[in-house]
Amino acid sequence: MDDGEDDSGDSSLVVRRAHVRDARHMYMIHVRSLAGVDREGLDWFKGLLRVRSRRVKALVAVLNGEVVGFTIAYKGRDRAYIDYLAVDPRYRGMGIGSRLLRELEQLLAREGVEEVGLSVKDSNMQALQFYIKNGYVVRGVVLVLSARVGDIADGPLDGYRFQVVKGGVRGLKVKVIPTTWWSSLTEEPDRMVYERLRDEYTLLLYKGSRLKGLAEFSPRRVMNIDYIAVSYSRPKDALKTLVRALKEEATRRGVEELVVYIDGSKNGLINALLELNFKTVRAEYRLSKELTTG
Ligand SMILES: CC(C)(COP(=O)(O)OP(=O)(O)OC[C@H]1O[C@@H](n2cnc3c(N)ncnc32)[C@H](O)[C@@H]1OP(=O)(O)O)[C@@H](O)C(=O)NCCC(=O)NCCS
Repeated sequence: MDDGEDDSGDSSLVVRRAHVRDARHMYMIHVRSLAGVDREGLDWFKGLLRVRSRRVKALVAVLNGEVVGFTIAYKGRDRAYIDYLAVDPRYRGMGIGSRLLRELEQLLAREGVEEVGLSVKDSNMQALQFYIKNGYVVRGVVLVLSARVGDIADGPLDGYRFQVVKGGVRGLKVKVIPTTWWSSLTEEPDRMVYERLRDEYTLLLYKGSRLKGLAEFSPRRVMNIDYIAVSYSRPKDALKTLVRALKEEATRRGVEELVVYIDGSKNGLINALLELNFKTVRAEYRLSKELTTG
């Protein structure tokens, strides 16, 4: 990988770390690539590239001085999650995506990452094929469940109480399990960007003094729950109560729809949401690859 600053006049493909000044190009490729879905704004890209964290890895591919592709990943101790990989449609099928992926994997492996994962929307067969060709294995699915706020079944909070705080919560001592495998990797960088960009809140659910669950969200018309986690003991009860509490909060703020991501293997949690009138609206393939050093 090239860490050089000067892209001009280079007729070969260079892969280097992304800078804040690349944000606009990355955003334009994003818009051309993923029409209609996950439409993060330019501010999100700028915000992410400004975050000073060793967990965020962002690379761009530069051809003849022009940014033609990019990738963004979040690194944990020995695992990483690829959030984005996209190549300008005019330059696809030329090996640029594979090169970006290879350079990212090498960088992650050098920093101790043993397994890298990602998810691909079930409508994106091209990307699925691309990752399989690059050594990724399908490990499962993630379901996207959605409900209109008014349709969510009411019920008692049953001895639970909740509290909403602005921003995220750091350094929680209590162990809670996130509903998706990637949440533990995406939660921190996501929060760092969103806290600056828009209203971000955390709902904390307690029974007595014990934390039973939490959810991070921004109150938009369609409220994507960015991060949701429940206690190890009676997780299904905790999730149902957490969602009822979210319904109260969403109603108060005029939110119309709630969207939650859950690993396909967590049958109990999925059923809890179905019992509250959520519907499965989409699925994503979960893939991963074991990295080797050297
Ligand atoms: C997935 C993506 C990054 C691949 O980048 P790329 O530079 O085109 O990939 P490469 O040239 O290295 O690899 C080509 C392989 O990808 C797939 N592929 C890429 N572009 C394709 C196209 N236009 N039509 C069909 N298959 C395509 C094929 O499997 C192809 O293999 P082949 O050349 O042996 O047929 C690119 O298609 C893209 O930006 N897609 C939109 C964004 C996206 O879906 N990202 C992944 C989800 S996070």
